Amino acid sequence: MPRHATRVAVLISGEGSNLQALIDAAQAGQLGASLVTVVSNRSAARGLERARAAGIEALHLAPTRGQERADYDAALAALLGPREPDLIVLAGFMRILSPQLVELYQGRMLNLHPSLLPKYPGLDTHRRVLEAGDQWHGATVHFVTDELDGGPAVVQYRLPVLADDTESSLAQRVHKGEHIILPRAVSWFAAGRLRLAGGSVMLDGRALEAPVSVDEGGSLE
Ligand code: GRF
Repeated sequence: MPRHATRVAVLISGEGSNLQALIDAAQAGQLGASLVTVVSNRSAARGLERARAAGIEALHLAPTRGQERADYDAALAALLGPREPDLIVLAGFMRILSPQLVELYQGRMLNLHPSLLPKYPGLDTHRRVLEAGDQWHGATVHFVTDELDGGPAVVQYRLPVLADDTESSLAQRVHKGEHIILPRAVSWFAAGRLRLAGGSVMLDGRALEAPVSVDEGGSLE
């Protein structure tokens, strides 16, 4: 993989298909960033194997029994610090972060969430979309702030909910979109095009009034 100045750490908990999308983009020379480490809170995360297969450091940091969130996050910060990441990407990292960790990487942490935020922060988004009878669903990449799944959105992937959609069909279609928008947002950050300034997302020097949006079947420049 080509080496780049922007160093990215990816946090995962499971399958790691979004990590794979980042690896694929890096290998294709489209990320403009180096994936320097992958950390999982779960040892069985398939994403750790994906990282190793790509020659990326793969670390497992398990929470200990009864450990306070702030203490786990301090251990995580101690692990990340020496690796000098410019950007932390939460790609299916199923833990809520402490305010201290969020503060440490303010403006340098992106999260991927499977809904059109601000709709449906938290879990079970596909089920909630179906229950509400929504016509649209999707995924969002956003900067991380103290509010759970609440930071300023950068880019969204939108898809129409079809009459025969199920939780699993929605999950599949949302994943496909996530694999498009996450590498793109990371490449914007790495190219210096994307930053957070005073709570606003700046892309190419302009504050975004709404996240960049891409519809299913469409493409991003
Ligand atoms: C993604 O749908 C992401 O939005 C959510 O967890 C899932 C992770 O999938 N937070 P994967 O591990 O990248 O395959």
